[in-house]
Amino acid sequence: PGTTVSSLLAAFPRSIPTHSHDYVTVMDGYVVRAILPWGDPLLDFSASWRPDASASAEEQARQIGDNHDGMHFFPFGPNVYDQGLLALNHEYTNYEYLFGKEYTEPWTREKAMKAINAHGVSIVHLQRDGQSGWRPVIPSRYNRRITGDTPMVLTGPAAGHPLLRTSADPTGTQVRGTLNNCANGFTPWGTYLTCEENFNGYFGGGSTDPLHQRYGIGKDNGYRWYEVIERFDLRREPNEPNRFGWVVEIDPFDPQSTPKKRTALGRFKHENAAVTIAPDGRVVVYMGDDERYEYLYRFVSHGRYDPGNPAANRDLLDSGDLYVARFTADPTPDGQRFRGQWILLDKERNPLLAAEARLPTQADVLIHARLAGDVVGATKMDRPEWVAIHPHRREVYVTLTNNNRRKASEVDAANPRAENLWGQILRWQENGGDPRVDEFSWDLFVLAGNPLVYPRGDARAGSAAITKDNLFNSPDGLGFDAAGRLWILTDGSYSNAGPYQGMGNNQMLVADPDAGLIRRFLVGPSGCEITGLTWSNDGRTMFVNVQHPGEAEGHPRAPALPAGQDLATYLAAHPTAFSEWPHSQFRELGGGRPRSATLVIERADGAPVFAAR
Ligand code: FEO
Ligand code: CA
Ligand code: CA
Ligand code: CA
Repeated sequence: PGTTVSSLLAAFPRSIPTHSHDYVTVMDGYVVRAILPWGDPLLDFSASWRPDASASAEEQARQIGDNHDGMHFFPFGPNVYDQGLLALNHEYTNYEYLFGKEYTEPWTREKAMKAINAHGVSIVHLQRDGQSGWRPVIPSRYNRRITGDTPMVLTGPAAGHPLLRTSADPTGTQVRGTLNNCANGFTPWGTYLTCEENFNGYFGGGSTDPLHQRYGIGKDNGYRWYEVIERFDLRREPNEPNRFGWVVEIDPFDPQSTPKKRTALGRFKHENAAVTIAPDGRVVVYMGDDERYEYLYRFVSHGRYDPGNPAANRDLLDSGDLYVARFTADPTPDGQRFRGQWILLDKERNPLLAAEARLPTQADVLIHARLAGDVVGATKMDRPEWVAIHPHRREVYVTLTNNNRRKASEVDAANPRAENLWGQILRWQENGGDPRVDEFSWDLFVLAGNPLVYPRGDARAGSAAITKDNLFNSPDGLGFDAAGRLWILTDGSYSNAGPYQGMGNNQMLVADPDAGLIRRFLVGPSGCEITGLTWSNDGRTMFVNVQHPGEAEGHPRAPALPAGQDLATYLAAHPTAFSEWPHSQFRELGGGRPRSATLVIERADGAPVFAAR
């Protein structure tokens, strides 16, 4: 494969080596900077970074949030190249870094509010000047923090349903906050979509409700909000978690606008939301539910997108049909691919759902979309993460990041390996290239694996496209640039040992989907995941996020600091739980602890190789 000519990868001629160091490397000929680290001021300069993490909850609400994930760059106009708005997700927070010496004891409402304010979304006005490149404009009327406490509304078919009502909101339409904002989407009418993923972990107190259990709701993940804020206590407010797990639409250009949770898109652990417009103008959104054995979904709007009437597009995501995917092993007539179908999740029109007593109305189908997927026999996938749509031919790609629990008796054509540690990328195309059509054909673009450890031909070695030069595991972020190059971002093991030998830290690769070639472009610092991907509209800049540098593998959140132990002793006991990236590499950014941040990547000669979309 190394000798295959690929014009798409001409500017990316060979993979860079991997490493396990606490810095970012990129391909020769490219330069990288970091901006917007967690805790930097955003609304004004009154709340600046404090290396000892002593910022208050109120200050955190005016600073950049934590754990940067999906993002999108919105230009001010088609011919404006030096300014734009970056909408940026903050997925979660690491308490061992969020708090200073006092760490979690005593646990207070103020500390819970600081954590809540580190979640959500930042809208950042960016400006580029010739000397220093992209930087935030502070203050700017556009800069905004949306947090886990910002008022927003539930809209669409499930809004107001009894399962969405709480004592604070008897209407079932008014919610405070968005949580676990993992990846994202964007619409052609200029709005941002932020997706709520692992929302279940914020609610505690216990639950025996099987509808809660289907979403893993019952025990909190150690955030401890339910101890000090009533709405997170399931014993007091069992419906509050039903108000999370949605796709939220935000108008980045109107700082006064109210974010809208779009219930028509279904409730599950949303990864991202990839939007396209069908030939007849209907809006199609593809969405993954990232958990082992969960499903892939499609939404098709009832209304049609009208590029000439922006106001008419505002609520297109409130009405439409939701579908779930089934991947079969039936070959297509040419024998080249397999067949699949989108199955309609409609209470009236799908007889299996019409007969399902646990889902009495269409609103219940949307609120418990996972259960609806179970009922109709959707294909249980290896953790569907990002979906990306080829810009030229309506082919759709999804990362299936890994599934270490899949048994040999559970493998199928789309999820073909037991104990799948490395993940795969699957692609499909609806028949006729029309994303509204329910029948599609599919194949696997690549199976990640390790040919250093397993012999060729063993499925654990991965596809032929995997070589000793581009080893990776756990593809997660995914995006096409306008030229049709596929960018793959990873969130997996960085142990560099055993089945992961030769893979080093998490990374970003660039692929030619036609030639099937994959080259490693970037390697991240210790303990991070690489995620989030967007481009400036002149194609000169690629923005990529470094999330949770310094996080200890296998301990998404390090064990609590024992009472009476100081932070230095704690960190000595958990050495992998500490890095000083980005300060360790970019000294102009404050240190004291690791900080998620946004990478600004450009070609050293300024050429627009990233080809804006
Ligand atoms: Fe937050 Fe599935 O990644
Ligand atoms: Ca993540
Ligand atoms: Ca992800
Ligand atoms: Ca992931």
